[in-house]
Amino acid sequence: MTLLQVMPDSAADEVTLRTDDDAVIAAELGKRGIVFQRWPLMTGLDAATPTEDILAEYAGHIAELDADGRYKHIDVARIHPDDGDPEWPAKAEAARTKFLDEHRHAEDEVRFFVAGQGCFYLHLGDEVLATVCTAGDLVSVPAGTLHWFDMGTRPEFVAVRFFEEEDGWIGDFTGDKISSGFPTLDELTA
Ligand SMILES: [Fe+2]
Repeated sequence: MTLLQVMPDSAADEVTLRTDDDAVIAAELGKRGIVFQRWPLMTGLDAATPTEDILAEYAGHIAELDADGRYKHIDVARIHPDDGDPEWPAKAEAARTKFLDEHRHAEDEVRFFVAGQGCFYLHLGDEVLATVCTAGDLVSVPAGTLHWFDMGTRPEFVAVRFFEEEDGWIGDFTGDKISSGFPTLDELTA
């Protein structure tokens, strides 16, 4: 379930808004300059669905989003729990930790969740907007926006990523440990 929880950046326990209403989420994010859209769900998707099938399914939406041709690299990122793999817990932890601290990017961070979930924490002015994205959610975090991302302790998602440059994913970390004071994805969705 898509969820938005808004908190002051200095007081994570003072929730000023919590909603799972898509229209409210789009409006609240929109008035702060964050693009949020709902695209149709893909049916028949499983772990073996080829990337080209996913990109073909959303070709119309992708073409609309990329109307000016700014996204030169469009790919599909996936992570699924594999309890048969003894390395899985370490892989999951490493993947989760990568963008769990506050950072920004030189270009917009654009993600479409085909399946699964992840939470973007947008640090905008004196607020933090925790935005739990689930299947069907497209979010675009503008370049330079302070944010962090939690994929949870059991990461599972399929997401289309849009990059202007091949290294567009690289994060510029602020060194601020603000993220450790906010509810995790696991806590937000418990
Ligand atoms: Fe990021």
